Amino acid sequence: MSMARTIREFERWRLEQDAKHKTLGFVPTMGYLHRGHLSLIQAAKAENDLVAVSIFVNPTQFGPGEDYERYPRDLQHDYEAAVAAGADVVFHPSAEEIYPSGASTMVEVTGKMTTKLCGASRPNHFRGVTTVVSILFNIIRPDRAYFGQKDAQQAVIIRKMVRDLHLPVQVTVCPIIRDEDGLALSSRNIFLTPQERAQARSLNRGLQKAMEYASSGVDGSRKVSILTKIIRAEIACQPLSAIDYVEILDAETLDELTEIAPDRDALAAVAVRFGSTRLIDSRILSAAPKGEPLLCTSI
Ligand code: PAJ
Repeated sequence: MSMARTIREFERWRLEQDAKHKTLGFVPTMGYLHRGHLSLIQAAKAENDLVAVSIFVNPTQFGPGEDYERYPRDLQHDYEAAVAAGADVVFHPSAEEIYPSGASTMVEVTGKMTTKLCGASRPNHFRGVTTVVSILFNIIRPDRAYFGQKDAQQAVIIRKMVRDLHLPVQVTVCPIIRDEDGLALSSRNIFLTPQERAQARSLNRGLQKAMEYASSGVDGSRKVSILTKIIRAEIACQPLSAIDYVEILDAETLDELTEIAPDRDALAAVAVRFGSTRLIDSRILSAAPKGEPLLCTSI
């Protein structure tokens, strides 16, 4: 197991592996690894000879006043957790190396896909994500890359970028890993007070109720207006919650819907603030019920 702190160190490791013709899976992260991240490393390990994990808190995806400075960091723990989950190399570059002074190129998926949902309240966020993921793909040169359904909009946008730019990487999206109480695991959960944390369980409950209703077959059960009301009602009654959005969109294109179609998946997505912590969660709703996919899905 290796640690590469510079592009040069990573390239040296990569060149040694090239000679062995091994396949490389890649898991990009911002660190503070939890079981959600580790599930991606395990999925990558199952399908590739080698796995690279990047730990890089990417400044360009944080807006002014967001939590870049206070984003949790614990490199020692991350390194050990990544090894235990099967990583062969951890890439932990500096911001100065990823964005050398004078760098002025951004990679952007344009259009509504990036301006709705989280894009509405975080205007340049996805541009920062697609830029850093492109840079990391160019350095790591993986055969396959693994992302979580937890960041559902991010996964849709990265798939689009990979298709549009004909990048030679296979993208796999893996299911959301949750705590026993249903809260989706997130590096930001540590900022929740015990009361906020208890009330944050309403995100999963609301989504779960909508999923059950959508597959109940009763009159109106596919109507987006009714389903969003179900989710909102569950969350809004929590006194510490402030809803940013509750939306149900086409799962692949993020286009608006009025009804869930029988032959296409819909994405129910929520973002809610508890104090200064912003949580996101989502579920796939389909007229033919299957809930969250049990296996990772690839393009
Ligand atoms: P980060 O938030 O660290 O997440 C890294 C990867 O782990 C993402 O693909 C995310 O969707 C996945 N993930 C997080 N929580 C998860 C959970 N509970 N279950 C399953 N997967 C989960 O997302 C980012 O970093 C950054 O935007 C990044 C892609 C690294 C670019 O900077």
